[in-house]
This record gives sequence, C-alpha cells and structure tokens, in this order.
Amino acid sequence: MTETSEKNRIRILAIESSCDETAAAVVENGRTVLSNVISSQIDLHTLYGGVVPEIASRKHIERINQVIEEALRDADVSLDEIDAVGVTYGPGLVGALLVGVAEAKAISFAAGKPLIGVHHIEGHICANFIEYPQLEPPFACLVVSGGHTHLVLVRDYGVYDIIGHTRDDAAGEAFDKVARAIELGYPGGPKIDRVSKEGNPDAISFPRAKIAGNAYDFSFSGLKSAVLNYLNGCRMRGEEICVADVAASFQKAVTDVLVGHAMTAVREYGFQKLAIAGGVASNSALRRAMEEACAKEGIAFYRPAPILCTDNAAMIGCAAYYDYLRGIRSDYSLNAVPNLKLGER
Ligand code: KG4
Ligand code: ZN
Repeated sequence: MTETSEKNRIRILAIESSCDETAAAVVENGRTVLSNVISSQIDLHTLYGGVVPEIASRKHIERINQVIEEALRDADVSLDEIDAVGVTYGPGLVGALLVGVAEAKAISFAAGKPLIGVHHIEGHICANFIEYPQLEPPFACLVVSGGHTHLVLVRDYGVYDIIGHTRDDAAGEAFDKVARAIELGYPGGPKIDRVSKEGNPDAISFPRAKIAGNAYDFSFSGLKSAVLNYLNGCRMRGEEICVADVAASFQKAVTDVLVGHAMTAVREYGFQKLAIAGGVASNSALRRAMEEACAKEGIAFYRPAPILCTDNAAMIGCAAYYDYLRGIRSDYSLNAVPNLKLGER
C-alpha cells in the first residue's frame, strides 16, 4: 500500500491473449479505463466453426504490437508513464497465452517496469470493479465463460472460495455446441441470445440438471444431449423444427440453473451482493432473470457492460492493480499455465 501513498496514480498496461481476442488496455488505479483495445479474430474462426488454436496464436503474434501501440496512444500514455505490465498467463490456450506472456516480458524488461501475471478468471471477476467503482468485496460471483462455470465467493481482493463448478461442459461451451446443432454457427452464445427473442422459452421442456452431493455444481452435457435428441426425434418424424423455440427453451434451461444456484448460494452464505462475469454474463435473458431474482430477495445485483464481460484487457489491468497493491510481482521465469486454478500462482 505504501506505493500508492507515494504516488497516487498507478497505471497498468495490460495484455490479454488467452483465446481469440488480442487485447491491450491502460487502466489507472484499477478502475479507470484509459484505453481498451480488442482485436477480435471471431470472423476468422467462424469459417472453421470454432477457435482453431494454431490460427489464434498466429493472429496474436501478428496483431499484438499494433494493439498495444493503439492502447498506449488511446490512453495518451507513454511506456515511461506505466507503473507495471499485467498479462494473462492462464488458463487458456497455451500457444495463445505464450504470445501475450512473451510480449509482456519483453516490454517489462525493455522499459524496466514490474511484471504481473494475472489469472484470466480473476480478470473476469474484476470487470465488475470497473463497472461499479463503489463495489467492494465480499460478494458472490457467478463466472460463466466459454471454458469455465464457477460459483465463487469473493472474500477479499484476490481471495476466492470456489463453491461450485461445472462437472462437464462450461455454460458457454453448451451455448456454442447447441448453436452448432441448430445451425446458427459460431460463436453460438450471441446468436442463441438473438434468435431466442423470437422464440417461446416454454415451448420445449429441457432438463435442469441437479448434481448429487453439491447443490452448487453444474452439468450441461445432459442438456446438450437432450437438445440433440429432440432435434433427431423431430427429423425422424419429419416434423418441422422451430429454431427460435429450441434456442429460447435451451437458454431458459441454462439460465434457470445458473440463477437457481447463484440465489441458493447468496441465501445460504448470507451474501448481500451478487455479481456475474464472463462471456455468457452478456446474455440478455440471464441478466434479466438475475436482476429479477435479486430484486425479489433484496440482493444488490452487479453485471459488467457486455464489452467487459467478453475477453478484454481492461479487466486484466484491474486485477493486476490489486495484485500490485499487495506487492505481487512475477519474475522473468513467468510461463503460460493453460490449466491454472483460481487462487493458485
Ligand atoms: O469470457 P469469454 O469471452 O471467453 C472465455 O474466457 O471463454 O466467453 C466466451 C463465451 C463463448 O462460449 C460465447 O458463446 C459466450 O461466451 N457468449 C455468450 C454471449 N456472448 C458470448 N453466451 C450467451 N449469450 C451471449 N450473449
Ligand atoms: Zn474469458
């Protein structure tokens, strides 16, 4: 904490390259975003129906310098005026992570600035601090992304208890797989979100999985199979498939489970605040359902703007700032850790 009292403006240059977005941002004092540049590769991966890891790495290496230059320019900040370089080092695609980590190390070394390796999921959670400058821990957070579905108790900055996780597919993965099955293409989440607006969420009764032994764990593979079985049944009987109804009914099944688990957690653990984070947190039906459930029970609800829910570097800059305040620094042996666990370093 002494470092902030000596100097009241801490600026982090943050880099994110764990999946298919090459991103850089400059964040001041954790919560003020001076710039947030995201170069998405979605159009490229759409051609293949999903993220192709080698293509992702190659695109990152091609784009990363320009993205960082743009982030510094947008923020009107030079490398000299940066206090530390934060970078996602896991979890994610190893080749993709390595590009960001190598770049961050090079900048840290050349500019003589401290290096801070950041956990990607911690970044997603921290997106809430950017959206809500007054938000402080403790709170409960539902993290729903393409690779992760975690129910987390945020006890303090950097202190997490994971009380539930998915036993199989992540929520975003389920969206992507079901979207492929109903031929909406990649990325599935936003497409299902959009087409569901024209569908009836009660048209088809899909299962809501309950996990024996942990009320907070999730499972989405059974739901995905139920959707596939429904589609096969329709095709065999020669019945017309209403894509909007399938999408809306699937989305309702996912949101019911996410909202149900999250509300049970806040109730049981006595939390007054519930946040959501990750790409799936930009889903309009989930945001509405969470808002309603929280309002009914007098719980304060937090959700980042959609651009802060999906992968970005501003959230990494926020997480790096709180690490910086706690004196956490990475050395030049920092490596990519594809399956890094939340709370591990
Ligand atoms: O957090 P994120 O950008 O990347 C990971 O860390 O995985 O999340 C990407 C995931 C994808 O599975 C995508 O389909 C999903 O988030 N997603 C959505 C929506 N926007 C993105 N899922 C549901 N509704 C959305 N509007
Ligand atoms: Zn992510």
